[in-house]
Amino acid sequence: MKSSLTLDQKYDFYERSVQNAEGEVSFMQDEFKRFYGRKPHTLREDFCGTGAISCSWVEQDKRCEAYGVDLDPEPIEMGKKRHYSKLTKSQKERMHYREENVLKTKAPKVDVICAFNFSYWIFKSRKQLLQYFKTVRKSLNKQGIFYLDIFAGPESQKLVTDTKKLEGLTYYWECQHFNPFTHDCTFAIHFRDAKGKKHENVFTYHWRMWMMPELRDILAEAGFSKTVAYWEGDDGDGGGNGEFSPAEDVENCDAWVSYIAALT
Ligand SMILES: C[S@@+](CC[C@H](N)C(=O)[O-])C[C@H]1O[C@@H](n2cnc3c(N)ncnc32)[C@H](O)[C@@H]1O
Repeated sequence: MKSSLTLDQKYDFYERSVQNAEGEVSFMQDEFKRFYGRKPHTLREDFCGTGAISCSWVEQDKRCEAYGVDLDPEPIEMGKKRHYSKLTKSQKERMHYREENVLKTKAPKVDVICAFNFSYWIFKSRKQLLQYFKTVRKSLNKQGIFYLDIFAGPESQKLVTDTKKLEGLTYYWECQHFNPFTHDCTFAIHFRDAKGKKHENVFTYHWRMWMMPELRDILAEAGFSKTVAYWEGDDGDGGGNGEFSPAEDVENCDAWVSYIAALT
């Protein structure tokens, strides 16, 4: 059934619920500087949706340039309206939307490539994921980093719904299907608006849930020299504090979200 939300509401609700563009840009820039001792200047945001991260990237510095790649014109149009239109003339010149497949993009080589909100989980076979990681590896400069995010933990494979209350908005993240043999899964986002109306299946995702060790193995096979796995600090109340640090020996939490940095 078609959502009764307007496109403006759909992307406003989505971004408020699941994105923190400025935080992700700082994380990627700070970590790059820690590894290579300099600031990165060029970004390719794969599966960019509205390109919120790319638009935030070009705001950082006059040398920062970004390429947002997505094959769907709808989020790109919404991104132009919501983010690109608010940039200065110089920032606009350094921000490029590309309506392309990430496997075939003609964007130039960059310092950083990111694939966030688990979008690379659309690649369900090892062969497809390896092919994608190899194209990413080839598109990075000599000193480069590929950042991915991941969620896991025993709770993330159960058919449950997580709820988050925001101002005038409730966000629901539902696991609708999980096959333990193949890790084929379906997740859906629902919203309840300020008037109390629930909008079901505004976004649905058919993915393979990839695990940390297999991702690190495939990244190594694709030619990355090193992978760094991150773990979120504790807020003292059973939740995360939004601060991520490199870690190897971590707690088996019920559900967790984290990042991987793959270095060229
Ligand atoms: C889960 S959304 C993520 C949007 C954004 N990256 C974020 O963090 O919120 C996945 C996006 O990937 C895009 N997409 C799916 N397959 C793609 C492909 N092969 N090449 C480029 N974009 C793709 C979809 O159009 C959609 O906008």
